[in-house]
Amino acid sequence: MIVECPANTRLQNWLLSQGIHILTACGGRGNCGKCAVRVLAGEAAINTMDRVWFSQAQLDAGWRLGCQVYAKGPLTVELPERRP
Ligand code: FES
Repeated sequence: MIVECPANTRLQNWLLSQGIHILTACGGRGNCGKCAVRVLAGEAAINTMDRVWFSQAQLDAGWRLGCQVYAKGPLTVELPERRP
């Protein structure tokens, strides 16, 4: 599934407002990696927990922890069936 997340929005909150649920086994603390998403377009900052879970190649391909993504600008995000 591909979604368009508006600017100035926390991705996880926006998904919930749309009735879309991603796995958040650790409650959004960055500890489980179950919420992995792939940012296809737009800027999503890489934080410390993203670096724990993903290789540089995966980060370059847009993989992020969905629970940690804050959209400063609009984002196009893939919610994959399978995580890396
Ligand atoms: S919900 Fe666990 S890392 Fe995002």
